[in-house]
Amino acid sequence: MGATGPAGSGLAARLASVGHNVLFGSRSAEKADEAVLELRRQWGSRVDSLVPTDNAGACDAPVVIAAVTAEAAIPTVQQHQQRLAGKIVVSMANNLVKNGRQFNAILPPHGSVAAEMQALLWESRVGTAFHLVPAAEFAALDRNMESDVVVLADDDKARKTLMEVVESIPDLRAFDGGSLVNAIGMEAFAAVLLTINLRHKGRASMRLIGIEP
Ligand SMILES: NC(=O)c1ccc[n+]([C@@H]2O[C@H](COP(=O)([O-])OP(=O)(O)OC[C@H]3O[C@@H](n4cnc5c(N)ncnc54)[C@H](OP(=O)(O)O)[C@@H]3O)[C@@H](O)[C@H]2O)c1
Repeated sequence: MGATGPAGSGLAARLASVGHNVLFGSRSAEKADEAVLELRRQWGSRVDSLVPTDNAGACDAPVVIAAVTAEAAIPTVQQHQQRLAGKIVVSMANNLVKNGRQFNAILPPHGSVAAEMQALLWESRVGTAFHLVPAAEFAALDRNMESDVVVLADDDKARKTLMEVVESIPDLRAFDGGSLVNAIGMEAFAAVLLTINLRHKGRASMRLIGIEP
């Protein structure tokens, strides 16, 4: 859902390029058509398995990634709550505001967007991933991935499945960060990382040392 933005389109293209069937969702099926055409122009048969659809159509997938803009994450999953029942739903939302030369995280009452999502989607299994992976890294299919991904979910099987999805992308390492209560750390750290990039004029992402997956 929201696959027309930089994060969603990069991730969708990357997942398609490694053989996943990807339902490429948008509020507007026409907008999804145009975005997929553009990706096909750029990457040819590497993104053959992208299927443009609307956000409701994207909910047919067993794993549904909410790649909509952060403030729309909760309203969007609420709109599709019934269709998402029984599915693994992935939040990658960093709800940030820019205050001068820094970013700050706006955390909702349950502590994180992801925990808020799980409280709302009580018939779905919510997980998180990709919080700290820059969209441009996904989108550059001609370059290897460099970031690590921390995966969180309350449900063990959902977390395992999501880690398998992450690791199906070459060079992207998945680490088990525990349950959704820890999403507060990922969403808040995104604000720190973006502030560092702003102040140091960089494009840092996260890589863990001293550990193998
Ligand atoms: N950009 C990054 O590098 C990055 C990295 C890690 C995580 N994230 C997270 O990933 C998510 C997507 O990031 P992004 O930069 O791609 O976001 P974005 O460009 O701001 O928005 C993504 C998509 O959200 C949909 N959208 C916009 N307003 C909406 C609304 N009111 N209701 C429902 N859908 C709406 C739009 O898709 P349609 O018009 O097609 O529906 C838009 O293309 C965010 O939650 C962000 O925090 C981003």
